[in-house]
Amino acid sequence: METPSLNEAKKRTCNKVNIIRNFKIDDSLKNIGKNKKYLVKTYGCQMNERDSENISAILEGMGFKKAIDLNDADLVILNTCAIRENAHNKVFGMLGRLKHIKQKRPLLIGLCGCMAQEEIVVEEIIKKHKYINFVFGTHNIHKLPNILKKCIDSNKLEVEVWSKEGDIVEDIPIKRENKYKAWVNIMYGCDKFCTYCIVPYTRGKQRSRLKEDIINEVENLVKEGYKEITLLGQNVNAYGKDIENYNYDFSSLLKDVAKTGISRIRFVTSHPWDFTTQMINTIKEYNNIMPYIHLPVQSGSNKILKLMGRKYTRESYLSLFKSIKDNIPNVSITTDIIVGFPNESEEDFNDTLSLVQECKFDLAYTFIYSPRVGTPASKMVDNISLSVKEERLQKLNDLINKYSKLSNEKLLNKTVSVLIDGYSDKEGMLSGYTDTNKLVNVKAPKEYIGKIIDVKIIDVKTWSLTGEIIK
Ligand code: 5AD
Ligand code: SF4
Repeated sequence: METPSLNEAKKRTCNKVNIIRNFKIDDSLKNIGKNKKYLVKTYGCQMNERDSENISAILEGMGFKKAIDLNDADLVILNTCAIRENAHNKVFGMLGRLKHIKQKRPLLIGLCGCMAQEEIVVEEIIKKHKYINFVFGTHNIHKLPNILKKCIDSNKLEVEVWSKEGDIVEDIPIKRENKYKAWVNIMYGCDKFCTYCIVPYTRGKQRSRLKEDIINEVENLVKEGYKEITLLGQNVNAYGKDIENYNYDFSSLLKDVAKTGISRIRFVTSHPWDFTTQMINTIKEYNNIMPYIHLPVQSGSNKILKLMGRKYTRESYLSLFKSIKDNIPNVSITTDIIVGFPNESEEDFNDTLSLVQECKFDLAYTFIYSPRVGTPASKMVDNISLSVKEERLQKLNDLINKYSKLSNEKLLNKTVSVLIDGYSDKEGMLSGYTDTNKLVNVKAPKEYIGKIIDVKIIDVKTWSLTGEIIK
């Protein structure tokens, strides 16, 4: 097992993507989990949430039942994230808790996801965390039944990572967490190689699923009564570019998905570089494509964007932003921003603040730069002190929050369409999301769960809205 270097990772091509079909759990493995309970703990992004739905279904196919909590579980799998150092720390914190439980009673512990693809993590596990039973990578989920069998039989640590990156595995069983909203992968991996980002190394090169497989999955979801799907990929709008002579891009896919008649379509994440005018026209044309776009900018400074390898400038981002706003009525646009990237001067940071002032994002996810081993940025000097990074983050968040509240205030006394998808954290209320992806709490009977209803907004906060049903 070896994490590839930047050059090796870039060189790998996936022209010969191998599609594995007809996944099956061998009959001899179907009783391994009889009378045992499992828990999958998911860290990080939607991609991991989606993978965990596969892992749960595989485990149930092997006879395991879902545990209520850690104390109730015979098997715990941590599906990990590697994007920033604090994601690592959370996982190692949880491993400490699991070790403690395992000192008192039998417990199988597995680790998968992006951390499992990092050579330094696996080395550390082999040396220092001998109580872990198995580790499998993001490309090896379909191997789980055999990995589990081997590690139960041998009572030794089983590691299966990076073995074959080029595969796309169709037909892995899935246990969806939500009855009304579903994740649909359209691609795996990423070819962008932003200099700070570990994803191209942990998830591999971009591999798009075939359109027929995606449409088929969506059509089945419609038949099962799903109301909303989110098309998932690290870089959804580069869909199809990795398949030679494909002649079918993300905009074509959006159209075909819209024609399935599913009530709501979302997609994450879009890269500004691959955002086309056709996409804007398609979103405008189909009512069931939601007017919500997550468009990470990362920085407002051209110098920093260049160092980050983002392939666009502040000016081209702003022009794309304007074009989206001008063409798609009531569209909401959210973003990701990193502060404290190497060499980010006060002036560079001010460029980010002024871009935020110009865009007035509906919401932004903000992060302190975290060097990741193996990425080009980790070789740059991390020369911004933590206190400056924290100060910048605070300043940025204050500005972002101001605009989030302002964008919510525009909805006061307006009617919005909400897919009610469950109980709210607020007592006696249900909650759901507007077509622009804003969280709404509504006083309504539980029969409304799973329905798309019109709601009048009667109160607004920074991150949520309160509404009442229109009779
Ligand atoms: N440090 C901080 N933030 C990062 N992100 C990705 N890599 C890093 C890193 N090394 C952020 C980016 C990306 C989001 C998912 O996480 O903003 O869009
Ligand atoms: Fe990472 Fe996104 Fe850049 Fe890909 S496009 S390298 S996932 S930040």
